[in-house]
Amino acid sequence: MATGTDPQAHARTRGVHEPSRAAIRERHLRGDRWWLAPAATAAGLLAFVVYSTWRAFADADYYAAPYVSPFYSPCVAEHCEPMRAGPNWEIVGSWWGLSPALLILIFPLGFRLTCYYYRKAYYRGFWSSPPACAVPEPRSRYTGETRFPLILQNSHRYFFYAAVLVAGILTYDTVLAFRDEHYDWGHMGLGTVVFLVNIVLIWAYTLSCHSCRHIIGGRLKHFSRHPVRYRMWGWVSRLNARHAQLAWASLVSVALADLYVYLVASGAFDDPRFF
Ligand code: FES
Repeated sequence: MATGTDPQAHARTRGVHEPSRAAIRERHLRGDRWWLAPAATAAGLLAFVVYSTWRAFADADYYAAPYVSPFYSPCVAEHCEPMRAGPNWEIVGSWWGLSPALLILIFPLGFRLTCYYYRKAYYRGFWSSPPACAVPEPRSRYTGETRFPLILQNSHRYFFYAAVLVAGILTYDTVLAFRDEHYDWGHMGLGTVVFLVNIVLIWAYTLSCHSCRHIIGGRLKHFSRHPVRYRMWGWVSRLNARHAQLAWASLVSVALADLYVYLVASGAFDDPRFF
């Protein structure tokens, strides 16, 4: 029967069974432990999803003066904990009864979900699409990101703009971490160091974004006529080469910054002060 009239027969001739491919019986020829990387990726992402979901819905222990958890910043709901050392961002009225983190996490979450690196990571880790280089995916059909819902991945550039805004606010929070609970400058605790490391990694990850690189250096015909943009494009390109590492480092650092605030706010730990 011709494959054009039998969908199952048609599917059997796609992918690794494509007539133009070498006729081998094995599904793939990789003899190494290729499954290790996608399995580790899936485990790491799953751990973050479980932790961040618990913290996002907790609606508690996200402020320990002068630190505010990055999961809850800016805290825009009216029922946010009073943050004496920080600005008042409360713009959503009392009608919002859920955790304030849910109002803000959508932006950094959308940024990471649509990130080119994370797409590769979770497509491989969770969907086996494909599981690894030279290992075929279990499905015979491949539509890429041309249809709903994956076509929404194209919104990444807009999430980048939101992520820059959020990173700016987290930078402000880090500056405020140099004040103590009495608004006096000159405080520095272990939490200040945790926040400093986190904000450096957040900015490095954000600026290493492929969309950022294109915004800075794309659509130019002659770099020689745009020396400033060329120089910035060079910096961003160097960061971009480390995008995957920065994605993981900033994911871990933002979770650790939140965990630190949680431990201090819940009384499990006292913030050691250097001065
Ligand atoms: Fe990863 Fe933009 S490509 S953040």
